[in-house]
Amino acid sequence: MAQIQWYPGHMAKAKREISDKLKVIDIVIELVDARAPYSSKNPMLNDIIKQKPRLIVLTKKDMADDTITQQWLSYYKQNNYYAMSVNLKNFKEYQQIIDQCRYILKEKMAKEQARGIKHRPIRAMVLGIPNVGKSTFINKLASRKATLTGNKPGVTKSQQIIRVAKDFELFDTPGVLWPKFDDERIAKNIALIGSIKQDILPLDDLFIYALNYLSHHYPELLQNRYQLMIDYSNENWLIDAFDHIAKLRKIKPIRGEIDYDRVMQLFFSEINNGTIGSLSWEDPSCVKD
Ligand code: G4P
Repeated sequence: MAQIQWYPGHMAKAKREISDKLKVIDIVIELVDARAPYSSKNPMLNDIIKQKPRLIVLTKKDMADDTITQQWLSYYKQNNYYAMSVNLKNFKEYQQIIDQCRYILKEKMAKEQARGIKHRPIRAMVLGIPNVGKSTFINKLASRKATLTGNKPGVTKSQQIIRVAKDFELFDTPGVLWPKFDDERIAKNIALIGSIKQDILPLDDLFIYALNYLSHHYPELLQNRYQLMIDYSNENWLIDAFDHIAKLRKIKPIRGEIDYDRVMQLFFSEINNGTIGSLSWEDPSCVKD
């Protein structure tokens, strides 16, 4: 799991590097996690990329709630963004990202040709916060059919551009951006999807948040995976839930006490890797700006 500590200097550097690359690319491929597309968005992306054409890709659609993902796609369409959802582990699906970029840039490329500019490959860069699938996407394309394209005007030596299709080039390193930190709900969501370390937050708060959310939105997942149904009229519901999961998963007590940390770690990892089932942490009604 990719995890980075962000400091103001770190953010400024990332912003500068991306701004440099923007000068030589045609389109930004912005990856967000389909389970929390708003929370996993960089807060300054619009400022950074300005009017550059952009495709928003909701990754990990196989782990998200399909109905909510459709709501997100409609939301983006209504707001005039190009967006699509993919499972990056599926070849056909990540190839469609390239097709969609071609579609978005069709007019621009045709205009260039009409002005006599020779047909040239589209050049793209991938951006996103940690753990949204940037390396997976680039590596899959790169290992399939990539050639390094050597020196290019405006591209420094440390930046490699790879040709992944006859008409498509990509920076081989993604732009890694920071998530929003200032909103507690967002911080919890990105901890649950693995984009920040879970222990940045008080773990028991995160556990209660996740348990309450699942109990209200996906009770069937708690039921199927843990045979757990929260009864809020029972004032000990939280301890009982810990106790229940510990017993079910045979987590041994330490000096007679439930090992709360192990129960929480197990729960978070089963949520994050999709073992518990497909779910989404937010729908478009959460969007504030
Ligand atoms: P990053 O560069 O943006 O930080 O993310 P990275 O590609 O490292 O992906 C983070 C994790 O998410 C990886 O799992 C990767 O396999 C998984 N992943 C990316 N896209 C998808 C997707 O569309 N669906 C599913 N199910 N998983 C996806 P990992 O466990 O950290 O590594 P690995 O063992 O799978 O390689």
